[in-house]
Parts: sequence; structure tokens; C-alpha cells
Amino acid sequence: MRSPTPSVFIQGIGAYKPERRLTNDDLSRIVDTSDEWIRTRSGIRERRIAALGESNADLGAAAAAAAIQDAGISREDIDLLIVATVSAEGPVPSTACQIQQKLGLRSGIPAFDIAAACSGFVYLLQIASHMLRAGDYRSALIVATEKLSGITDWQDRATCVLFGDGAGAAVVAKCDEPYVGILGNVLGADGTRGDLLTVSPRTGPKPASVADLPVGTHVIGMNGREIFRNAVRVMSQACRGVLEKCNVPASRLSLIIPHQANLRIIDAIASDLELPLQCFKLNLERVGNTSAASIPLALEEAYREGQIKVGDYILLVAFGGGFTWGATLIKWYQPKTS
Ligand code: ACO
Repeated sequence: MRSPTPSVFIQGIGAYKPERRLTNDDLSRIVDTSDEWIRTRSGIRERRIAALGESNADLGAAAAAAAIQDAGISREDIDLLIVATVSAEGPVPSTACQIQQKLGLRSGIPAFDIAAACSGFVYLLQIASHMLRAGDYRSALIVATEKLSGITDWQDRATCVLFGDGAGAAVVAKCDEPYVGILGNVLGADGTRGDLLTVSPRTGPKPASVADLPVGTHVIGMNGREIFRNAVRVMSQACRGVLEKCNVPASRLSLIIPHQANLRIIDAIASDLELPLQCFKLNLERVGNTSAASIPLALEEAYREGQIKVGDYILLVAFGGGFTWGATLIKWYQPKTS
């Protein structure tokens, strides 16, 4: 396989989960649902919810600080910051600029947001890799942060049971070692199916807050069945596409980290790829669907729990509103310490 040069690898990874847990039983006191329905349809038992006053940028900044620390570099070293989110409190200032300010990152570095919904982290890896390889930057900080509680319609049982809050971040850097780190990506989008998942202004009167949950001006709407069908098809194709591009057989994979939308979707992808479910990292039971933050939250957990070793082939795969998709193949790398 043609090795992209120089190699770009994940130097540090961090995550942040808000303290507050919202269980399925808690939700059954808000809408007409049950723990049994939610678990069997989605695999989710509980999700984290940001504290009152905790912003989307606060979640991202906490994950980013952890990633910088894990990389063993100083905040001064970051020379590029890109954030993926669909749940910023407002469009300006960008969440990236807010995180730059909160962490005291160097003034003058570029900082901007992207919106690719649940595919956001995979998009970030590709954008950062190309910007690093182009030679203008040395250490990129990529952050995926979502405060989905702020755009959840707590009166809609079809959606409010699926989502949660959280953030994940990575420091991405170049190295001279050939054929390591981010080996390849495939990204895609199909704007003709934008109707499948939307964040739109709330219609009707704004309800009172329940159980101290935020009541936002915008809410998520979705066509669950169509998302399910398309997610399985497109994520399976993206996995095959990136493996083929990098000339790595599926049998070499140590771990697949899928977007954590729904256990049944992941199960169907495993069947489609003829891989056991044990190859897939799962944490949706405890965090729900955190959109762009979903993959880095699961990646950080796998890394921290020792499920990832140097030389392992790791496949990340996502599908999101837009709709968008992407897959990234990584050969895990850590520079040797002298
Ligand atoms: N509790 C109890 N009953 C419910 C709930 C709930 N929370 N939500 C819906 N129902 C009811 C419906 O009203 C319906 O009742 P009816 O038969 O009397 O009309 C019944 O359950 C079946 O509803 P469906 O929507 O047909 O349920 P389905 O089996 O399709 O499961 C689900 C719904 C879980 C959303 C499924 O379609 C799915 O997993 N889709 C994927 C969506 C997804 O993962 N979205 C995440 C965001 S997108 C992304 O991350 C890429």
C-alpha cells in the first residue's frame, strides 16, 4: 500500500463525561417509555447529562485538556484547533474559539468548527491529517463535543431516550516512522437524505423544564427506521472501502470502534462484515448516542482500559445526519521513549 507521508498519529487522547447520570427509569418518569423498551430497541441503559450552566465548550475543553496531558506536550505546542459539534449554544463565537480561550491556547492559531453530525470525529481526523501533512502545522488538537441535552425534545419519546452528552479529543501529530498512525480514510455525504435527521426550531409553545433538563429553542427530529436501514448499509460499505484502500484484510483488525447509536445497528454491521460482535468496542449502554463525541469517547475508554496496543489495526466507522459517513483505519503508534 502507498504509505501517506509523513505519517500522522494520535499522540494523546482525552475524554470528558458529565457527572449526572440519567437512567432509563428516570426517563420513564418523564415520557411514556420503559427501561425494557429502551434497552431492547437500542442497548442503552443510561446517558450522561451536562450540569446546569455547563456548556458544550466546557465539555470539549475538559476533554481537550486531558488529551494534551496524555500527549505529554504543553498547551503552547498546539498550533491548530478544530472542533466537531452540532450542539453549540450558538454559531459565533465558534466552540473552537471558546475552547481556545478556556484552555489559554496560543493566540493566533487557527481555530474553527465543522458540522458533520455523528461522523464529525472521522472528518476531523482526515482534515487534521491533511493540514499536518501539508506542512504548516506540527500539533493539531481535534475535539468532538456534544451537549445534545440542549437540543433534545424531552416530550418526544422516540428521540429523547437515545441521546446523551460528552466530549472526546485527540492531539494529532506527524512522525518519521513510515506506515503508522492514520493509514487511510473514506468520507462521504448524501445531502438528498438530509430529512432523516434534523435539528430544527421547536414548533409550538416552549414547555416547562422537567427534572432540571434543558429546554432548548431547537430540537432533534428523526426518521428512526430509515436511519437504521441506511446506517447499516453505509457503515458496512465505509468499512470495506477503507480496508480495501489500505489493502488490509478485515481479519487483521484488532478492534472496530463504531459510532455508538444503537446496539442493533452495530450487530447488523458485524453480521454484514462477518465479524464477531466481540471485535466491536461498545460503551453505548452507559453513555447513549453522543453524536460526534461517540467515537472518541469509546476510543479513549478502549485505550485507557488497555484494549489497544502498539501495532494494532483499529477501524473507526461512523454514520450521521446530513447524512454523512466515514471510516478511518489506524495502525496504533507510540514513539519510542529514549
Ligand atoms: N418507548 C416506548 N415506545 C416507544 C418509544 C419509547 N421510547 N419510542 C417509540 N415507541 C413506540 C412507537 O410509538 C411505536 O408504537 P406504535 O407501534 O403503537 O405506533 C412503537 O414503539 C414502534 O416504534 P418504531 O419507531 O417503529 O420502533 P423501532 O422498532 O423502529 O425502533 C428506534 C425505534 C430504536 C429509534 C429504531 O428505529 C432505531 O434504532 N433507529 C435508528 C435510529 C438511531 O439510532 N438514531 C440515532 C441518531 S442518528 C445517528 O446517530 C446516526
